[in-house]
Amino acid sequence: MKKLLYIDACIRNAESRTKRIATPIVEALKERYEVETLCLNEMELEIVKEDLIRCRNNGRIDPVVMGWAEKVRDADRIVIAAPFWDMSFPAALKNFFELCSIFDVTFKSDDKTCFGNCRAEKLLYITTRGMDIATGDVLEQATPYLKALSWLWGIGPLQVVSAQNMDYSTEEEIERKIGEAIDRGLEIAKTF
Ligand SMILES: Cc1cc2nc3c(=O)[nH]c(=O)nc-3n(C[C@H](O)[C@H](O)[C@H](O)COP(=O)(O)O)c2cc1C
Repeated sequence: MKKLLYIDACIRNAESRTKRIATPIVEALKERYEVETLCLNEMELEIVKEDLIRCRNNGRIDPVVMGWAEKVRDADRIVIAAPFWDMSFPAALKNFFELCSIFDVTFKSDDKTCFGNCRAEKLLYITTRGMDIATGDVLEQATPYLKALSWLWGIGPLQVVSAQNMDYSTEEEIERKIGEAIDRGLEIAKTF
C-alpha cells in the first residue's frame, strides 16, 4: 500500500474547524493509503537557530527530526491541515518545514541550484480562514509559500480545500461551509 503523510497543524485541536474538515477526508484516504500522522501539537519543534544550523552543517542531525524529514521524503502523498493564522499558517508548521528542509534528504543541489528530492506527486492543503479571504488573494500568503516549498522539495501539484469568513458567519453558515468543504475534499480524495 502506498504511503500518505498527514501533517496535522490544527493547533486548536478539538476546537479546530480545519480539523473537522480534514478528519473525514483523511479517513477516506485510509482506504487507499497507509496513513501516518504527524500532529504538530504533540511534537517538540525546536526553533532553527544558530546552534542547530552549526550542528546540521557538521552532519549532526537529531535522529527524531531526521525521521520526520525522511517521512516527508518518502511519502507518496502529503496532506496538510492548518488554520489561516496571521495571513499564512501557524509558525509551528513553518518550524516543522525548516526542521525538515535538510540537504540530501528533502532537497539536493548541483553546482547551479537546488532541486527536490521528495516523491509525493500530490499535496492537499486543507484550511479555514477567519476573514473573507479566498485562496490566491494577495492577502493569502499560505498557498504561495506552500507552492514555493513544494518546488524546493519536488512535491506537487498543490490542491486546496478551504472555507473562509468563518469568524463572521452564523453557526448555520459555518456548518454549511464545513460540510461543503468536506464534500469537495472527499471528491478530491477519490482521485488523489
Ligand atoms: C492566532 C490566530 C491568528 C489568526 N489570524 C488570522 C488572520 O490573519 N486572518 C484571518 O482571516 N483569520 C485569522 N484567524 C482566524 C482563523 O483563521 C479562523 O478562526 C479559522 O477558522 C481557525 O481555524 P481552526 O478552527 O482550525 O483553528 C486567526 C486565528 C487565530 C487563533
